Formats: sequence, structure tokens, C-alpha cells
Amino acid sequence: MSNLDSLLVELEATAEAFWNISRENAVFLSSLLKAMGAKRVLEVGTSNGYSTLWFAEAVQQSGGEVVTLEFDAGRAAIARENFSKAGFSETITLIEGDACQTLKTLTGPFDFVFLDAEKPEYATYLRLAVPLTRTNGLIIGDDTISMADQMPEYLTLAFAHPELESVAVPIDDGIVLSRKR
Ligand SMILES: C[S@@+](CC[C@H](N)C(=O)[O-])C[C@H]1O[C@@H](n2cnc3c(N)ncnc32)[C@H](O)[C@@H]1O
Repeated sequence: MSNLDSLLVELEATAEAFWNISRENAVFLSSLLKAMGAKRVLEVGTSNGYSTLWFAEAVQQSGGEVVTLEFDAGRAAIARENFSKAGFSETITLIEGDACQTLKTLTGPFDFVFLDAEKPEYATYLRLAVPLTRTNGLIIGDDTISMADQMPEYLTLAFAHPELESVAVPIDDGIVLSRKR
């Protein structure tokens, strides 16, 4: 087993405490990234970096990078340690701070954006993420079934936004996949 594989298995023991996506969802998203040859991934909501590690592995073969945003200093420190253990410190840039502010400072284009932070803020993340995403790039919102009641504005916007074509996918806690037209 590689360093990465054993670390991912180890992290799965604490998945609930760190609100990580499931392995099934991780494999699905990683397959999308590899199929589209993604080079630049943006993640809103790092936690301990479980999903970030899957994204980093997926873009590694294309020499890509992952930018991930987290405002909790403790979880950011744990994530950095995990990135280092897996040998991905060079592939991943973790930016600490409120994603609603950080998103305004980033330069696109990104191929793939993953929204997995504060549910009521998803509509704000989406508005800021659309201009950062390339044509035919994907913006994915997580927990769209399990926490639908906390994100009504996002769920309306994702399907009404003129620059997006969206579809709900019932995997894990639910995701909404939006392709930029
Ligand atoms: C669901 S967890 C992320 C899980 C991670 N994507 C995974 O699957 O391994 C959400 C994280 O977003 C962070 N967060 C929430 N609101 C944020 C904000 N406005 N800016 C930055 N980080 C935020 C929380 O501190 C938490 O660690």
C-alpha cells in the first residue's frame, strides 16, 4: 500500500468527526477529474484534507494543482500535516481565511470547483466561483440532499443560473453538478 492509500484508510476512521465525503463520492469525483484531464482544482472547505488528497492524486498525472480554502486554524494545521505525509505539499496550496473573502482574491480559470463548507453560504460561493471556472468546467456542491434545508438559495440558483447547466446526483449525501456553459 502506498503512503497515500494507507493515509486515506487511516483518515476514514475519523471521517464523521471531520465531515469527510465518503470513499464512494471520492472515487466518483476523482474519476470525473481524471476523465476531464483537470489541471486546476479549487476546494471550498478543507477540514483535515481527506477530499483534497483524492483531488491531488487525480490531478497529479497532468501536473496539476489543488487550491483549498479553510478558516479553522486547527483543521488547517492537521490538513497540512496530512498533505506532507502523503507527499503532496507541492501539489496543494491551502489558503487560510474566510472563503467568502478568499474567493474574491483568486485568479482563474479552474477546471473543477468543489463546494463543501458552510451550507447557507453556498449561493455566495457559487456566485464567486462561476467567473473563476472555465467553459465546460464543473462546479460541484456537496450535501445537497442531507442538508438541502440549509441551502435553498443555492439549490434554486444552481438550476436557474444562465451560465450553468446543473444536474442533481444522488450519491453519498447528494451532490449538484453544474457545468459552465
Ligand atoms: C464538510 S467540512 C470539509 C470536508 C472536506 N471537504 C472533506 O470531505 O474531506 C467543511 C469545512 O469547511 C470549513 N469552513 C466552513 N465555512 C468556511 C468559510 N466561510 N471559509 C473557509 N472554510 C470554511 C469548516 O471549518 C470545515 O472544516
